[in-house]
Amino acid sequence: MAVMIQRPKGTNDILPSQVKKWHTVEKITNDIAQQFGFKEIRIPTFEDTGLFVRSVGETTDVVSKEMYSVTATGDAQFTLRPEGTAGTMRAVIENGILNEGLPQKVFYQLTCFRHEKPQAGRLREFHQFGCEMVGSASPRADAEVISLAKNVLDSCGLRDIVLNINSIGCPNCRPNYHKALKEYFSARKDELCGTCQERLEKNPMRILDCKSPICQEIAKGAPLITDYLCEECSDHFSKLQGYLGAMDIDFTINPKIVRGLDYYTRTVFEFISTDIGAQGTVCGGGRYDGLIEQLGGKATPALGFAMGLERLIMTMQKQECDFIEEKKCDLYIAPMSEDAASEAIAIASKLRKEGYFVEYDLIGRGLKAQMKYADKIGAAFVMVLGSDEIESGKGKLKNMRTGEQTDTDLGEGLINTFSNAVIGEMFSGIDEDIAKFTEGGNG
Ligand code: HAM
Repeated sequence: MAVMIQRPKGTNDILPSQVKKWHTVEKITNDIAQQFGFKEIRIPTFEDTGLFVRSVGETTDVVSKEMYSVTATGDAQFTLRPEGTAGTMRAVIENGILNEGLPQKVFYQLTCFRHEKPQAGRLREFHQFGCEMVGSASPRADAEVISLAKNVLDSCGLRDIVLNINSIGCPNCRPNYHKALKEYFSARKDELCGTCQERLEKNPMRILDCKSPICQEIAKGAPLITDYLCEECSDHFSKLQGYLGAMDIDFTINPKIVRGLDYYTRTVFEFISTDIGAQGTVCGGGRYDGLIEQLGGKATPALGFAMGLERLIMTMQKQECDFIEEKKCDLYIAPMSEDAASEAIAIASKLRKEGYFVEYDLIGRGLKAQMKYADKIGAAFVMVLGSDEIESGKGKLKNMRTGEQTDTDLGEGLINTFSNAVIGEMFSGIDEDIAKFTEGGNG
C-alpha cells in the first residue's frame, strides 16, 4: 500500500465536525467590525518579499527566521504573508484609498504563514481576524480599536481576558531609549544569543522579545520605554487611558510589551488569556504612524490589531463558550425502488428551491440503514417512498421527534403540507421552551 502523505507540521485540517466553531467566530468578528463601520478587504496570500522586510523589519524573528519565501522567474522574491497589516497598507496605498476620505477602516479574515516551532497555539499556518484604521492620530482612535477587539472577545463569551497596554514612543523619543538599551545589553553582550548580538547594533529593542530563555532572563532588568517617552507620547498615552476608563475597559499598563514587529509607534496592546498555556496572546495590535510613508504613501497615521482565530477558539473551548448550531436537515427521503428514487430527486429539488435542506439516499441502502442515517444527520422529517406511494401519489411525512405522521400528496400540495409541518415543529419547540421557562419561574 502507498505511504500516506500527512499534512505539514504546524498546519491544521478544519473538519466538518469542527467548522461550526469557525462559523461562530467568523460571524461575530464580521458583525462587530461592521457595527464599528469597518469594511472587509481581501488581499493576496503572497506579496513581494520586500514589503515585509520594509514593514515588519529585517531584525524581527518573523522576517529573519520565519518567512516562507520563493524566488520566482528572474530575481522576483515572493513571501506568503506572515501577517495582514503590511499587505493591507500596500493595498490601501496602491488603490488610492487614502484619497477617499479619512478615516478609512478595514477588516480582514485571512491565513498567515510563519515558520515557527509548532506548539499548542503556535502554528505555521494560522488564521487572523484583523482591523486597521487609517487617518487618525487621536488617542480616541486607539480607544476605539481596543474597544472593538474587546467587543469581539465579549461577544464570543470570553471571561478573564487581560488587556495589557504600553507606549513604545516615536522616532523623537526612541533614539534615547535605544541608547539606554545598548548600554544595558552591551555589558552582557557575550551572554546574548547570536541573533541578539547582531540586534544590539541594529535594533536593540528586538532583544526584548527574543524567544531564547537566556536573552529573556537578561531582558528582565532592561530599562523601560515608559521612562523615556517624550511629552507628546506621554500625553497620548495618558489620554488613551482616560478614554479606556470612560469606556469601562479594564487594563494593565505593562511597560514590557514591545510587540514582535518593527512598525509600531506609541500605543501597543495585547489581550491575554491564561487558559491556553504559554501562547496566551489572543490579540495584539497598536499604532504604526510611520508605516504608510515608509511604504511609499503620503504620511498618514494608522493603527489596528489582529486576533489569532485558533487561539480565540481554543480559549472559547476551554471556557465552554457557545458555538452556533449548524443547520440540520429538514427532510430525509427514503426511496425503496428505482422509480421512487426518481420521485425523491424530483421532490428534493422542488423543496430545495423553496429553501429547505433536503437529503435522499445516494447509495441504494435498505430502509433500516436509511432510517439510521436520517437519525444520524438529525433530519426533522422523513418520508418513505415505496411502490404504494408512487402509485397513489400520496405519502406520509414522519416527524422524527414525535413519531407523528402527516398525510401529504406528492404533487401540488406537497410544498404547502411540508412548510406547515416545519412551521408547526418550529412552534412546538418554542412552546416547549416557554413551558420550561414558566415551570422554572413557578418553581
Ligand atoms: P502578531 O502579534 O504577530 O501581530 O499576531 C497577532 C495575533 O496572531 C497574535 O496575538 C496571535 O493570536 C496570532 N498568532 C501570531 N502568530 C501565531 C502563530 N504562529 N500561530 C497561531 N497564532 C498566531 C500581527 O500580526 C499584527 N499584524 C497585528 C496588527 C494589526 N497590528 C496592527 N494591526
